[in-house]
Amino acid sequence: MIKVFADKEALAWAAAELFAAQARQAIAARGRFLVLLAGGETPRRTYQLLAQDPHRRQIPWWDVHFFWGDERCVPIDDPRSNAAMAQKALLDHLPLRPEQIHPIRCDRSPQLSADRYQAELIDFFAGAVPCFDLALLGLGDDGHTASLLPGSAALEEQVNWTAVTRRREEDFSRITLTTPIINQAAVVLFLVAGGGKATVLAKILNPPTEAISYPAQLIRPRSGDLRWWADHAAASLLDESRICRGI
Ligand code: 6PG
Repeated sequence: MIKVFADKEALAWAAAELFAAQARQAIAARGRFLVLLAGGETPRRTYQLLAQDPHRRQIPWWDVHFFWGDERCVPIDDPRSNAAMAQKALLDHLPLRPEQIHPIRCDRSPQLSADRYQAELIDFFAGAVPCFDLALLGLGDDGHTASLLPGSAALEEQVNWTAVTRRREEDFSRITLTTPIINQAAVVLFLVAGGGKATVLAKILNPPTEAISYPAQLIRPRSGDLRWWADHAAASLLDESRICRGI
């Protein structure tokens, strides 16, 4: 079932509400909230809403740790950087200690940077299987998510938590978390907005099929909760039977 919201603003507001609720719940239960941030453009508005009241004051930010599902191997101040986008939209506005922010640093070769991020995850989770409380994901119009790109070897990766990918049309590599770690998350929330995603979203969600045609279909939380949220434009080709209406 997918939840559909009137427009991008309603979608972003609902995502900020869920983020705040999950954060309060995780911190009350375990003393910390581990969130995997998505890149691209869609989540920007959600991050901006979280950076301002009422959401900002609802979350004990000093107990939140920020990770990324993927990163483009570009300079940290490059506007294409996922970390730079989240830093500007959200993190710069919060009372955080540097050790709460875990960007995928790309100052080495892509593979060395990917290996280093995996080592940082192993160290942070002290050898336990990493379980993010909330994993935010976007959806590309080719069905990719994070930087799990169609046809990439990363789709088959079942051991390593990170991988390097590259899109033909881009002059930079990408580092992505792989499905084994993403699928450990307690809640996975796809945020999909805009008419440009309508076709691929319908192909993924309309026929409840076991056939895997798109990378996003590999996201199947082992025991967690998978939620698809979209705005009206992105959901415009979905069977009505697949929709529940958000506010
Ligand atoms: C990235 C993102 C990617 C993104 C989708 C949707 O680094 O590009 O992680 O997976 O979520 O491409 O991007 P938009 O939100 O910009 O449509």
